[in-house]
Amino acid sequence: MISHPGVTKTSIRRHYDLLSPFYRLLWGRHIHHGLWDETDANFESPPEAAQLRLTETLADAVGVDASDRLLDVGCGLGGSSIHLAKTRGCRVTGVTLSGVQRAYASLAARANGVRGRTTFLRADVERMVFDRESFDVVWSVECTEHLFDKATFFREASLWLRPEGRLAICAWVAGEEPLSDEQRRIAGEVCEGMFCPSLGSASDYEIWFRDAGLTDVVSRDWTSRVAETWRICLDRVHRSGTARLAPLLGRDARLFLSRFETMIAAYDSGAMRYVAFTAKKPG
Ligand SMILES: C[S@@+](CC[C@H](N)C(=O)[O-])C[C@H]1O[C@@H](n2cnc3c(N)ncnc32)[C@H](O)[C@@H]1O
Repeated sequence: MISHPGVTKTSIRRHYDLLSPFYRLLWGRHIHHGLWDETDANFESPPEAAQLRLTETLADAVGVDASDRLLDVGCGLGGSSIHLAKTRGCRVTGVTLSGVQRAYASLAARANGVRGRTTFLRADVERMVFDRESFDVVWSVECTEHLFDKATFFREASLWLRPEGRLAICAWVAGEEPLSDEQRRIAGEVCEGMFCPSLGSASDYEIWFRDAGLTDVVSRDWTSRVAETWRICLDRVHRSGTARLAPLLGRDARLFLSRFETMIAAYDSGAMRYVAFTAKKPG
């Protein structure tokens, strides 16, 4: 596991409160990587389609349908929650640390006609208490990197799932040990600039799932299909002039924007990988 002690909940919340409007303008409603088809070697599919492909591919893998009560952990601007409520008819509870994101997601749900099937909460999921067995699916795309005690989170999430409930996670993970000093340095810089207190490896996640009593664990390495995201984001940040605004946005935002190239290096060097996991709670 790679850790960075300087990250705090306050720095994560401030980051999303401050930068969510920029995420929305430069990348869209989904604050996660795009997933390109294996056959699309030149990444010709538009990024917006690639973002939806990631959501749809994970939803198919875990089998989301209209009967599901789904908990979207780290729901961002509500991209997955609203898309799944709208296209699959499920009921969704989304949780985000950011008040700005919660407000945006609630308005967007209303605009998309799914207000009655979605609830958005501003809360720290590591302090949430949900009733036992109150969800059919626990879904989390690119949030567990920000959690401080991932093992405890998965034990709690397992309690929130009904028997035969399913877990769907997309996560940035550290490369498998042994990592070189250079890979450790790069992964540490990702943690610092992207506000991740730690990055577990895929093996760490698999251990946490099994310790939480989950079975049927499947891990899919999507690194080569998502990595293009950061080349596109880097280009958009420069072309839009956002990079020139960085000095006005404070130290954390400057650090964040300066680490896009580090993300590219992290994937290229194997310091980090992108993995989609599914698992099930036994009946
Ligand atoms: C990279 S964004 C992903 C957003 C969303 N899942 C998506 O795919 O569009 C990370 C999200 O995790 C949320 N987050 C981070 N730590 C959290 C915590 N302890 N409790 C709740 N949400 C958290 C942030 O507020 C943000 O919404």
